[in-house]
Amino acid sequence: MTVTRIEDIAVELPDVADTVEFGRRLGAVLRAGDLVLLSGPLGAGKTATVRGVAAGLGVAGQVNSPTFVIARVHRPAPGGRGVPLVHVDAYRLNGLDELDDLDLDTDLTDAAVVVEWGEGVAERLSEDHLVVRLERRPDDVRVASFEPHGEEWARRVRAAFGG
Ligand SMILES: Nc1ncnc2c1ncn2[C@@H]1O[C@H](COP(=O)(O)OP(=O)(O)OP(=O)(O)O)[C@@H](O)[C@H]1O
Ligand SMILES: [Mg+2]
Repeated sequence: MTVTRIEDIAVELPDVADTVEFGRRLGAVLRAGDLVLLSGPLGAGKTATVRGVAAGLGVAGQVNSPTFVIARVHRPAPGGRGVPLVHVDAYRLNGLDELDDLDLDTDLTDAAVVVEWGEGVAERLSEDHLVVRLERRPDDVRVASFEPHGEEWARRVRAAFGG
């Protein structure tokens, strides 16, 4: 029996629609209290992934790149999984204090929290978290890979993406 190591999973995303679908599959397995950090350069597809996560969770409101808003809470929508999504864009966050100061009107343990540019900033929200890396190949295909922090992520990611 071959067991795919989570470190060896690389999901190729040729088109933005594939990236949204990738996010949807991720969103379909997220639960309240989950923390996901999205890393990758400008234009890698982080926001496109969050758009899919929102669809997978079934939450209300459009996901976009916040210009003035650092974080947005998306409430559960009818027919969804009943878990709110907190979408944070840490690119504009001036350090850790602002993360604490975010007046989200939602307990982060009640929501799935997805942070763009979160690496190095948002880990302290929860030691247990998943890093999703999005790389942009020269041919413009995006490649997603995973770095699990915590007991369960490897199993959960394999279940969702490991084949
Ligand atoms: N395979 C792909 N996956 C995702 N985006 C793609 C892909 N191919 C092309 N694109 C384009 O790249 C851009 C990705 O934008 P997106 O806002 O999702 O990136 P981002 O990582 O959030 O950027 P930022 O660092 O500015 O927040 C979009 O314009 C999208 O149409
Ligand atoms: Mg973005």
